[in-house]
Amino acid sequence: MVETVQWTPQGVVMIDQTKLPRSVEFVTCKTYQEVADAIRTMVVRGAPAIGVAAAMGVALGVLQTPADRLAAEFPRICETLASTRPTAVNLFWAIDRMKRLYASLDGSAPERIRQAFVEEALLVYEEDIAINRAIGRHGAPLVPDGMSVLTHCNAGALATAGYGTALGVIRAAVEAGKKVHVFADETRPFLQGARLTVWELQQDGIPVTLITDNMAGHFLKSGRIGCVIVGADRIARNGDTANKIGTYSVAVLARENNVPFYVAAPISTLDLTLESGAQIPIEERAAEEVTHVFGVPVAPEGTAAANPAFDVTPNRYVTAIITEKGVARPPYEASLAALAKGE
Ligand code: MRU
Repeated sequence: MVETVQWTPQGVVMIDQTKLPRSVEFVTCKTYQEVADAIRTMVVRGAPAIGVAAAMGVALGVLQTPADRLAAEFPRICETLASTRPTAVNLFWAIDRMKRLYASLDGSAPERIRQAFVEEALLVYEEDIAINRAIGRHGAPLVPDGMSVLTHCNAGALATAGYGTALGVIRAAVEAGKKVHVFADETRPFLQGARLTVWELQQDGIPVTLITDNMAGHFLKSGRIGCVIVGADRIARNGDTANKIGTYSVAVLARENNVPFYVAAPISTLDLTLESGAQIPIEERAAEEVTHVFGVPVAPEGTAAANPAFDVTPNRYVTAIITEKGVARPPYEASLAALAKGE
């Protein structure tokens, strides 16, 4: 299995997702500031992976700070990591978890504090893999045998500590003996589908066909696609779902063609403080990601370009939300709250 982010004695080691698939390179972050840079520049990306990296980043920050300065430095460590990317709520979820740990260690010996932070970061990592396997178990029965699944962006092992959410459901269906073929949207402008989803499915021998984003409607109409499965960066309590830009268009096209549209995400991606998706902050990235492809201009010099990195799919287009605790169906206000409470 691909190792997306790992805690090692040398630091936090990440596969460099900006280089895939042309080369498989690893980056070692020795400080929390380097972890923050890796999140910002998308060396590591995908909501759960960002959460795991942030937890490890906070642990690194605690290790690199002399005990007598930790009380002053701890808020800065958390703030630096929290200011990297605004949309994926798993980032803030992980940092809040580390803040609660810090509060619970009040008065503990420095060595105990350091050890507790490393253990907690490793726990976040291990839990994420277990959660993804559970999402896979719940989601696999929804995947039709002998048909194609369309996915957008990369919600796979590379977007998590391992196994993946949307791709975890596909992996679990394949492990259960189903014949599954995947259509991967290339996912302009950052090409997570072309570069990452195709790469990791190929590693596992799962058949995958790359399509450009504007082909999704054509294939959804063809009758070959049994369902759409995507990940999520933040889900409001009414089920409105923020995910990679272009997801909304896919959801509308799926509805138009009577193809079920599933969101696969851990409970940590729920933001029950938000009434609806209108309150989800949408990251705006550099215009160059749109005007250029791998540094080569594809538009006249000086072209104005918009680059929202995410869009919000209204809950009415979401057939079900697959979590590690079970499958939520509409109305989501009630079903998500029940799953979050563990009912
Ligand atoms: O900008 P990215 O690559 O971090 O966006 C990733 C996505 O939109 C994923 O679909 C989402 O984080 C779910 S990952 C399991």
